[in-house]
Amino acid sequence: MTVPARGAGLPMVLLSHRGPVSFGRDRSGRTASRGAGGLVTALSGLVSDLPDAVWVCAASSEEDAAVAAEHGGRAVAVTLDGEPRLLDPEAAAEEARAVRVRLVEVDPQAHDDFYTVIANPLLWFLQHGMYGLALAPQLTKREHAAWNDGYVAVNRRFADAVAEEVEARGGRALVMLHDYHFYLVAREVRERCPEALISFFLHIPWPGPDAWRVLPPAWREQVLKGLLGNDVVAFHTEGFARNFLLSAQELLGLPVDLDAMTVQVGDRRVAARHYPISIDVAAIRELAATPEVAEHAAALTETFCDADRQLVLRVDRTDPSKNIVRGFEAFATMLEDHPELAGRVSFLALLQPSRQDVPEYADYLAEIGATVARVNAAHGREGWAPIDLRLAEDLAMAVAAYQVCDVLMVNALADGMNLVAKEAVVVNDRDGVLALSENTGAHQELGAFAVTLYPFDIQQQADALHAALTMPRDLRRARRQAAAAVVEENDIAKWLNAQLSDLGVDLEAGR
Ligand code: F6P
Repeated sequence: MTVPARGAGLPMVLLSHRGPVSFGRDRSGRTASRGAGGLVTALSGLVSDLPDAVWVCAASSEEDAAVAAEHGGRAVAVTLDGEPRLLDPEAAAEEARAVRVRLVEVDPQAHDDFYTVIANPLLWFLQHGMYGLALAPQLTKREHAAWNDGYVAVNRRFADAVAEEVEARGGRALVMLHDYHFYLVAREVRERCPEALISFFLHIPWPGPDAWRVLPPAWREQVLKGLLGNDVVAFHTEGFARNFLLSAQELLGLPVDLDAMTVQVGDRRVAARHYPISIDVAAIRELAATPEVAEHAAALTETFCDADRQLVLRVDRTDPSKNIVRGFEAFATMLEDHPELAGRVSFLALLQPSRQDVPEYADYLAEIGATVARVNAAHGREGWAPIDLRLAEDLAMAVAAYQVCDVLMVNALADGMNLVAKEAVVVNDRDGVLALSENTGAHQELGAFAVTLYPFDIQQQADALHAALTMPRDLRRARRQAAAAVVEENDIAKWLNAQLSDLGVDLEAGR
């Protein structure tokens, strides 16, 4: 066992940039909304099941900052059962499933440098292989300042908050850190709290050593040495875990063992592991059974699907890594190659605007709009537009669209996992075909039941879409059922329990 299974009995301190709850204000006063996504669902359940757990996250709104300030920067207690609500400290002691959340306020300029200059263009683009390198990235005075005053400073701020929570628990805790925002935290926490058991989970790809040479040597060493402060560094796939070890070997000259999947750091051995994240199957099926979803599904069916018409769907954040523009080009190519499909196949794109304060993301959203206008002008006709672009965040609508689509297109350039693919296969009831990029973590589990997409090859994607739309019904059904069975087996509980069990945490026994 190379993972240190000594988490039994330890209180838990969790860190992620987005937290389980965010506060706002409307005419009636303070409002609270639940953080979106499977990760929040899984970890909220965990934190509320454990008596002395705390979730550290960024104060992401003015009202979050106000709540934090009112509590002297200490953790607040919230309930996430039903409508989320802030609990007063007395009530929190009574409430069995209260979640303790420490909202960390960060200087806005430092946060901007951390999030919109370093984490979300630079690290995100580097790790998803999105730089052409001839002209980008350009690491100027601005980026150097943003690294030091933004990324490093914000990591230190969160490391302090995490270390304070560990110290408040006697210096012994299981610390679970999440994602590329916080590569530098573990090393600092370990220095202050040597008895803590520290694990890190990365939700995006980890590329091979050469990709990291885009960063100045001092930065990439900080990233790697920061991560090597953990006991366990975990990824979605074995390939990402191996790339991490090879990066430590090549860029830091450390000895690695690719059989045991460990790297030696002085007298410590750090384990690289992989646990493919998943979805809460019961929760999404529960949502799929609501009247709201049924209403949307009926409307979508009437608009897009009957015996003679088919629907291609995509559901994504407007992130350049999702490869939305090439997806539309591929659809247009298919219409050119198969003019008989005009008026008979539509492409519904449910897209959530994302990270619009990062210029690369704002430009990409503009490019998406321009591409849709171009394709619709070239291929549309009276009463039929080939692409229906809807910009909104509406989970009920997305689930309804998953149910009725004939093909779900996921053609990401690179994606740590891709949960849209997993959600769609468990709720679709039209024998829908999954058209899935080979560069997603999900392809390892679902590729055998999908039509594989090569994300840079527009002609191949056009041909693959056509193959999916013309696939015999019984094959469609068999593949969708097989894919759903894989997701049912490997759900979010399995993802979490595998990590906890490797760390020695037994939830059944209270810990
Ligand atoms: O995939 C990484 C991730 O952090 C996800 O966990 C999350 O859904 C997504 O990116 C959204 O990012 P942001 O918090 O920047 O909107």
